[in-house]
Order: sequence, then C-alpha cells, then structure tokens
Amino acid sequence: MKIALCPGSFDPPTDGHINIIDRGLRIFDKIIVAVAINRSKKAVFEPEERVAMLRELLKDKKEIEIDSFEGLLVDYCRKKKISTILRGIRTVSDYEYELQMSLANRILNPDIETIFMMTEGRYSHISSSIIKEVIAFGGSGNGMIHSLVEKKLKEKLRKK
Ligand code: PNS
Repeated sequence: MKIALCPGSFDPPTDGHINIIDRGLRIFDKIIVAVAINRSKKAVFEPEERVAMLRELLKDKKEIEIDSFEGLLVDYCRKKKISTILRGIRTVSDYEYELQMSLANRILNPDIETIFMMTEGRYSHISSSIIKEVIAFGGSGNGMIHSLVEKKLKEKLRKK
C-alpha cells in the first residue's frame, strides 16, 4: 500500500490544498493529512479547528486520515512509519522554500522522499495568508476556499 503524508499549517485549508490531496489519491492509496502544531507561529485557527475543517472537507474520502503533530516532521513520519511526503508547489518562491525543507528533512532522515505536485493553474495565486487578508477586508473567498471555511474565517476575524 502506497501511503503519503501531506503536512502543512492549513490555517485555513484552501481549495489549492484540497486539489493537491485529491490528485495525490491518483498516485497514493492513502494520504495522511497532518496539521503541524507550531506554538511559536501566530495562527488564526487552533490546530483542533484546522483538523475539524479538514475532516469536514474531506469526509467523503475514506482513503484520507486527518491528524496533527508537534515537533519535527521526520519524527512524525517515523512514528507513522511513512517515508513519503507529499507537497504542492505553486511558484518559484515555493520551490526555494520546499527545496530547503526537503533537503533538511533528508539530512535528518535520508530514507524520506518528498514528492512535489505542481498546483493547478487556477490555484497558483491562492495562499492561506492572502485569503485571510481578502476575507478580513470583506472580499469573497469564492474559488479560493470552501464556503464552510469562509464562514468560519469570517466568524474568527469578526471576533479579533
Ligand atoms: O503549510 P506550511 O506552513 O508551508 O507547512 C510547513 C510545514 C508544516 C510542512 C513545515 O514547517 C514543517 O514540516 N514543520 C514541522 C517542523 C519541522 O520538521 N521543521 C523542519 C523541516 S524544514
């Protein structure tokens, strides 16, 4: 069984994330989507809220497991006995960031391979931070985030 781990901050999950996960299922039999808990990084959503949103968005896909982890990704991979990481790439700047991360992960554990999928063109402009700004200024998340995520993001930003 081919299993991949798709890690990320998912603050919040975007249509671009879901697209990569969906397409990843054409290659992998199972994907574990793992929300990284980074207490030093300011996030809009709590890790549990991100996990809950991903569970809702991906509830129809039985080949997907949603989890969260704290600490090094390579340690979590070891714990889950997974040696393949799946990540999406949108832009050249993503490439540089992803290259650094994948090389660091390989130094930490040479058995781990990172597989990259190019984002579909219609999602190449989407990032969780741009979406937060769009919604904060009253714009629409249509075509960028699921309506459920948009509703939750509006509620969050209203409270802040
Ligand atoms: O969605 P993001 O923020 O681009 O995801 C980045 C993530 C969570 C995959 C990365 O920061 C990560 O792996 N964090 C866990 C800590 C770790 O292992 N850091 C060293 C890898 S360079």
